Amino acid sequence: MTRTVVITGATSGIGRAAAQAFAGRGDRLVLAARSPATLAEVREECRAAGAPVLAEATDVTMPDAVGGLARAALAAFGGIDVWVHTAAVMAYGRFDEVPERVFEQVVRTDLLAAAAVARVALRHFRAASAGTLILTGSVHGHITAPYLSGYVAAKWGSPPRNGWPGRWWTAPTGRAGRCRWAGSTW
Ligand SMILES: NC(=O)c1ccc[n+]([C@@H]2O[C@H](COP(=O)([O-])OP(=O)(O)OC[C@H]3O[C@@H](n4cnc5c(N)ncnc54)[C@H](OP(=O)(O)O)[C@@H]3O)[C@@H](O)[C@H]2O)c1
Repeated sequence: MTRTVVITGATSGIGRAAAQAFAGRGDRLVLAARSPATLAEVREECRAAGAPVLAEATDVTMPDAVGGLARAALAAFGGIDVWVHTAAVMAYGRFDEVPERVFEQVVRTDLLAAAAVARVALRHFRAASAGTLILTGSVHGHITAPYLSGYVAAKWGSPPRNGWPGRWWTAPTGRAGRCRWAGSTW
């Protein structure tokens, strides 16, 4: 069965590898990240593997950007089956030396945008009575580390540490949807 898969953070690392893996099995892809040039590169890689691809340059920290991406996915492919969220940034430095705007961008990207994705995806999945949301956690959601205060703050605020959006949820029909988190060290 082919699926429509949205990947936020599709141009690098885990998101790009996920895009290539889903493309290899013939899924329809909606790819998002900020850099249009790198996004176009990944889009062509995935098309070459045979996948229908919509690539949308998106900054997930911007108001309604995640909602706009979901609307674009629905317009292009008529539904969303899986949403993989890997968009993240890191900043290294002593807490008092990291500029406020940099700290805030890390928390905005790694925590608030993950919440925005979960909100939009789960509303869609509940309405459709099916869907899989994959958020990427980190060992830094369980242990702290020096010089990573923004990242650690964001990951401690994210699933599975704080329980949102619920690992499993029940759709109105009683069918269970899936909500998963993944961290490379688990
Ligand atoms: N790699 C690891 O060892 C590791 C370990 C533990 C947990 N994780 C977690 O796994 C996830 C992915 O990590 P990774 O290493 O694969 O990351 P990565 O290689 O740095 O890729 C991050 C992706 O997010 C995108 N991005 C960043 N800010 C964005 C924004 N505001 N809007 C939209 N896209 C944005 C980047 O593209 P643009 O810059 O073009 O926007 C890029 O595609 C993260 O949540 C990370 O915390 C990774």
